[in-house]
Amino acid sequence: MNLPFIEPFKIKMVEPVYMSTREQRENWIREASFNLFNLKSEQVTIDLLTDSGTGAMSDKQWSAMMLGDESYAGASSYYNLKNAIKEITGFSYFLPTHQGRAAENVLFSTLVKEGDLVPGNSHFDTTKGHIEFRKAIPVDCTVDVASEFIVWHPFKGNVDLDKLEDVLKTNPLEKIPLIIVTITNNTAGGQPVSMANIREVHNLAQRYGVKFFLDSARFAENAWFIKTREDGYSGKSIREIVSEMFSYTDGMTMSSKKDAIVNMGGFIGLKDEDLFRQASAYNIIYEGFITYGGMSGRDMNALAQGLFEGTDFEFLSSRIGQVAYLGSKMKKYGIPILEPTGGHAVFIDSKSFLPHVPEEEFPAQSLAVELFVEGGIRSSEIGTLMADRDPVTRANRFSGKEFVRLAIPRRVYSDNHMDYVAAVVKNVYDRRDSITRGFRIIKEAPLLRHFTIELERFGGF
Ligand code: F0G
Repeated sequence: MNLPFIEPFKIKMVEPVYMSTREQRENWIREASFNLFNLKSEQVTIDLLTDSGTGAMSDKQWSAMMLGDESYAGASSYYNLKNAIKEITGFSYFLPTHQGRAAENVLFSTLVKEGDLVPGNSHFDTTKGHIEFRKAIPVDCTVDVASEFIVWHPFKGNVDLDKLEDVLKTNPLEKIPLIIVTITNNTAGGQPVSMANIREVHNLAQRYGVKFFLDSARFAENAWFIKTREDGYSGKSIREIVSEMFSYTDGMTMSSKKDAIVNMGGFIGLKDEDLFRQASAYNIIYEGFITYGGMSGRDMNALAQGLFEGTDFEFLSSRIGQVAYLGSKMKKYGIPILEPTGGHAVFIDSKSFLPHVPEEEFPAQSLAVELFVEGGIRSSEIGTLMADRDPVTRANRFSGKEFVRLAIPRRVYSDNHMDYVAAVVKNVYDRRDSITRGFRIIKEAPLLRHFTIELERFGGF
């Protein structure tokens, strides 16, 4: 008999899962103005809001924390991290930041100005926010197949090279400070970008003399997909693949809260010393001195260790395997999900799930609220609320995409928890025809509104 696949770790410390009644959850979500970010964590049974900063650190990471050096300048923890980043990514220069968006803030302060264009594949919302905040424009050049929910394609996160070249050809190059490609492509469903695509973007960037960066929050998951799906890579290690990916670029921004399995932290990796010096000035203003940035010594030590654990093939197989397990279970129940499942989350197509809720009433948010009321699952809306308003016309940006994302934290939940999640989604699916109305906005912020938005439900609750 073939032995079954098992998680390559065992558990030393546990924390409670909070159970509740439907009535409690209805009250809580009403008090939270139907915004899942406003819920207290004790009100949530299974928290799939994000896989960011929610992973379980290892014994080695916790022990590395005890060896943290909290010196203001030149701490040993800084050098541990510098060596780990060099070994894993190849970048000689790096700046620590408190998280991924801080890395974006520092890098874009250095490179992006009003009127610029920043092409890439579907920019993550903080990336888009940082570009638009500077009155520059993110140009989405993702391949069209990314919006086909059930078409199987190995690399749905790819950049459409014709669209990218068109942007480079038809605009003054001094208005294009960088191309940024997100691996994996979170907004498109945690879908990977192939090595061939990264290489081609590099070739275009070279030809037009434009810098090329990777938004690398889930770079190790991306490498796992390259190893398991792309010709010529099955015999290479994850670390060899990672190092080849970064070799094609000028630098990276990193949210360490994802693939480096820490609760807080980020960094910028850079090839060029001049750019490092320019960015250092912003790092010092916004984050902290260049040998700690936004991080304490203990956190840099845990991150250095996490970079090695996060690029382990067995770990990645179990992590991405769990996401696929949840996806296949939901598919068996007939639930419309984005296929194939990506690296960190299952995305539900809420427009097919709730066909009676009009687009203007936010079907994805409606489904996210139903999943909470049904079984205490906290998910996130990746739809019109998150897409914000157009900065010029202030109209809602209806892209046709209305996803509910079930993001799985790393090394936190068991497959039994996944069975529970699938059952909750199925119960809502079984009563989908009775869900006909959604929400109206009561209060919203001008940018990144979904975090603080307040909503009212049509027909009450
Ligand atoms: N880039 C990508 C692709 C991300 O997914 C995120 C965060 C960031 C940048 C920003 O990093 O949170 O450390 O400041 N994504 C989280 C999510 C919040 O839930 O997907 P951060």
